[in-house]
Amino acid sequence: MRRIRSISIELRNSTRGPTVQQTEAELRSIVAKRQPWLKCPREQARAGARPGGRCRFQREGPGIDRSAGQRSWHVVRAWAGALLLWLGGCAGPQSALDPAGSGAERLADLFWAMLIGAAVIWFLVIGLAVYAVRLKDDPHHPVMGNALIVGGGVIFPTIVLAGLLTYGLILMPALRAPGDGLTIEVVGKQWWWEVIYRPPGGGPVVSANEVRLPVGRRVELVLSSPDVIHAFWIPALGGKLDMIPGRETRLVLEPTRTGTFRGQCAEYCGTSHALMAFAAVVMEEGDFEAWLAEQGRPAAQGRNAEAERGLEVFLADGCGACHTIRGTPAQGRIGPDLTHVGSRLTLGAGILANDVEAFARWIAHTQEVKPEAQMPSFGMLAERDLLALARYLESLK
Ligand code: CUA
Repeated sequence: MRRIRSISIELRNSTRGPTVQQTEAELRSIVAKRQPWLKCPREQARAGARPGGRCRFQREGPGIDRSAGQRSWHVVRAWAGALLLWLGGCAGPQSALDPAGSGAERLADLFWAMLIGAAVIWFLVIGLAVYAVRLKDDPHHPVMGNALIVGGGVIFPTIVLAGLLTYGLILMPALRAPGDGLTIEVVGKQWWWEVIYRPPGGGPVVSANEVRLPVGRRVELVLSSPDVIHAFWIPALGGKLDMIPGRETRLVLEPTRTGTFRGQCAEYCGTSHALMAFAAVVMEEGDFEAWLAEQGRPAAQGRNAEAERGLEVFLADGCGACHTIRGTPAQGRIGPDLTHVGSRLTLGAGILANDVEAFARWIAHTQEVKPEAQMPSFGMLAERDLLALARYLESLK
């Protein structure tokens, strides 16, 4: 069967002829009855033409041979594919819709409530529009029209927005409740994160580009920035908060399950804003305490001759002016603390793997890997020195 894609109806008594699109079912009925000429008083009345005139029906365009069943199957498959693609964004280590923290759970609940509410309102409005355009020919009674404007345009939005505001206000106290002792300072830099742990009665323990949290505890993050505005966000764990120069903002995260998640700067902060990410690792309480104790120690020294050589290169080439490696003369504060850099999950704030090759690439091609970073590329290093330096840094577990 050839599919009829569209048909136009021309009013004989109008030279410029308004056209009306017919549904396929109507077209099939017309073709089946072999009635090329039909009366169409309704369309004529709409077009302001003489009632009782005649309409000419035309077939237009080539069709595709498909049964109704095949067509519905194609439509169902297309929608299912689109839905799968859409839902693909709902999982993963950086998804606010796959929560692993109490704050993220509340925000996800709010999101779904708003999404469902928005969908209901959308269908309601579209239903009304279809009713007004396609089903209702006569104008509304003025009383009905006014009731629609006041009810749909004033009362209904007021109730919906007041409900949403109330729901949001109910969520806020839980999101803003204080932490239970462990504080972590995070300072947004261009374009990396300084992370300072201040456990009760201990610390500080300085690290970078990775945030580790104990599961089931309410950890307070104190956020700041020395220069531009960044935004700290671990979507799977909680809400997003700006890091503003000249003030401290506070965010409490309460992870509900262990795992490795991904955080990302969520405020445009310069050329390498998109390259400002980090790993967020949620650990069992005991594992976290052991890890933090290890991070507080100075770097292990001189495991082998090449590591010694790497430290020599590090100090001779001035790396210590910007970086600290506790237990060595390197005490710089401009760049990340590298005391345990080899134990981190990533390099360069979430953009490279942590292995010897990545260290060498970062050191020799910094500006290509992270454009406009404060660290220059050290492409002038002899290959032997570069490799020794990379191996030394990778050994700093
Ligand atoms: Cu930091 Cu965007």
